[in-house]
Amino acid sequence: MPRREIVAHPRLGFNSYILPKSFRGERTYDSYEPNPLGKHPDDVWPLQPIMPSAKERLGYPTQKPERLLEYILRASSNEGNLILDPFCGCGTAVAVAQRLNRRWIGIDITHLAISLIKHRLLTAFGDKVSFKTIGEPVTLPDALALASQDRYQFQWWALGMVGARPTEKKKGADAGIDGRLLFHDEPSGGRTKQIIFSVKSGGVDVGDVRDLLGVLDQQKAEIGVLLTLQEPTGPMRKAAASAGFYSSPWGTKHPRLQIRTIAELLEGRAVDRPAAAVPGVNVTLKDARPAKAAGSSEQEDLF
Ligand SMILES: C[S@@+](CC[C@H](N)C(=O)[O-])C[C@H]1O[C@@H](n2cnc3c(N)ncnc32)[C@H](O)[C@@H]1O
Repeated sequence: MPRREIVAHPRLGFNSYILPKSFRGERTYDSYEPNPLGKHPDDVWPLQPIMPSAKERLGYPTQKPERLLEYILRASSNEGNLILDPFCGCGTAVAVAQRLNRRWIGIDITHLAISLIKHRLLTAFGDKVSFKTIGEPVTLPDALALASQDRYQFQWWALGMVGARPTEKKKGADAGIDGRLLFHDEPSGGRTKQIIFSVKSGGVDVGDVRDLLGVLDQQKAEIGVLLTLQEPTGPMRKAAASAGFYSSPWGTKHPRLQIRTIAELLEGRAVDRPAAAVPGVNVTLKDARPAKAAGSSEQEDLF
């Protein structure tokens, strides 16, 4: 058996061994076999961006491909190491670190990103992931402080509390709508139904309930919810109660116009909506693909 040497093959580089042999006392290198340790990494990683229809796409504008983060994390860390992504967006580094059995810390300045990361982790890992969120309001004074600092961040946080998707542009048909929850209540597809949200961080009165009722009718939405920091007035509650009910195919009835204060949300009082726990009904946020275990086939062509 000839001694194996790692010698760069003129065409295949370090990806193959060249087997030395002697010809009339001279060493020649004329045969090779694949490197048993696997392919040597190139210094350029050819990667596709996330395509518009990719299952991986979650709708965050700057989302990076998981494969890119997988390359970086595998090349620069070991299981159990701590990964920090201080600009983590929708949490690609965090999700890959979790899948590769690294510990992680993710930081992002927007509550929209934090809401998305939580949804991503829970849909990808279910009860196999546990994490703590720091910096979100947990009391009413916290929520008031956020609202006075930045009302858009407050809005994103409040919508995140109910699992709603913020509307991107509030012009035309979306005027008066800050967020939506989408659901299906027909056995095979059918029209996607909507719960529309209006978020108020300042003063509220009965006019806000009437406005939301107008948008509800115009949009043919099933349910409208006013999320408010301030306590609603008696006339507001009366106007909301007079809006009637949405009846679901599951035989349940839900008020067409609901008012939830931030204090109620913080106490865990949810929006009254149909079949919230039935899989496949809520189609508001794109679920992350269930995570494959670390060491899956993704690794095979890395090195
Ligand atoms: C390019 S994106 C990161 C995308 C991420 N790699 C992913 O796959 O989703 C940069 C992120 O940095 C966040 N950001 C900007 N300024 C920040 C700051 N001062 N502190 C924390 N996060 C910040 C933005 O909100 C944005 O989500």
